[in-house]
Amino acid sequence: MEVVVSIQDIRERVKSFRENQLTVGFVPTMGALHEGHLSLVKKAKGENDKTVVSIFVNPLQFGKNEDFRQYPRTFDNDCELLSKEGVDIVFHPKASEMYPEGFCTLVIPEHLEDKLCGKLRPGHFRGVAVIVLKLFNLVKPDVAYFGQKDFQQTVIIKRIVSDLNLDVNISVLPTIRNKEGLALSSRNAYLSETEREGALCLYKALAKAQSTINAGIINTKEIVQEMEKIIRNCKSATIDYVSVVNPETLEEVPRVSSGDVATLAVRIGKTRLIDNIICVSTI
Ligand code: PAJ
Repeated sequence: MEVVVSIQDIRERVKSFRENQLTVGFVPTMGALHEGHLSLVKKAKGENDKTVVSIFVNPLQFGKNEDFRQYPRTFDNDCELLSKEGVDIVFHPKASEMYPEGFCTLVIPEHLEDKLCGKLRPGHFRGVAVIVLKLFNLVKPDVAYFGQKDFQQTVIIKRIVSDLNLDVNISVLPTIRNKEGLALSSRNAYLSETEREGALCLYKALAKAQSTINAGIINTKEIVQEMEKIIRNCKSATIDYVSVVNPETLEEVPRVSSGDVATLAVRIGKTRLIDNIICVSTI
C-alpha cells in the first residue's frame, strides 16, 4: 500500500491505472476508520482492480463552532487497517494542497443543502460538495462508495454527479451498527459510557418508525411523534430534527411509502449523532 500526499503523485498513479485498463474503486473518508468505513473498502476491493481511499479532514465542511480541531485523527492505525484490507493507495493530502491560497470556487447544492442537517450546519454540504468533486477529479474513479448512514450526503452527491454529468458511478451501502443497533461513527469516540447507552435511542426511534408503519400507520406526523417520544425518554438527548422524507428531494412526505427515509439528528450531551432507515410499507 502506498501513501500519496501530493496532487501530482495521485494524478500519476491514476494515469498509470487507466493506461493499463484497470478499474478504480474509491472510498473518500476523514479517517478515524471503523467497520463502517471498512465495509465500503471491502466492497470497493471486491468490485475493482485498484482501490484508493482518501483520508482528509476537510476544513471546509466544519462550521466555526464545530469539532474540526478535536475530530479524531488516527492516521497510523487507519493505514494499518487499510493495508490489511489490501488497499492500493491512501491519498492523504495537506489542507494547503487541497485549498491553496486564492482558492475561491464554491459548489452549491441548492434546495438540498438547507434541509435536515443543513439547517443546523450552514455551509456544511457546500464543503462536502467541493471536496468530493475535487477528489473525483483527482482519483477519476469508476465507482465511488458512500454509506447510507450519511443519507443527505449521498442524496447531494448523487445529485451533483447527475447535474454536472460526472463520469462516476455512486454506490451507497448499508449502515453498519454495533450489536445493540448504534450506528458506527467516528464521533462515537466522544461519548461517555452513559452517553453511549443514551445514544441507543436513535436506533430505537428508527425501529419504532418501522414498527409503527408495520402496524398500519403511515401518517408521518404520527410516526414522528412516536419517534420523538422515545428520544425524549433519554435524559441526555436533545432532538435537532426527526423527519420522514422523500429520498431524492429530502422534502417531508405527508404519508410514508416504501423507499422514504426516516431520518434524525440527536445531540447526546455535546455529541451530535445522525442515523436513518429506509422505510418499508406494504400499504
Ligand atoms: P466520514 O465521516 O469519514 O465517512 C466516510 C464514509 O464512510 C461516508 O460515505 C460515510 O457515510 C461512511 N460511513 C460512516 N459510518 C458508517 C457506518 N456506520 N456504516 C456504513 N458507512 C459508514 O462522510 C465523510 O467522511 C465526509 O463527509 C467525506 C465524504 C469524506 C467528505 O469529506
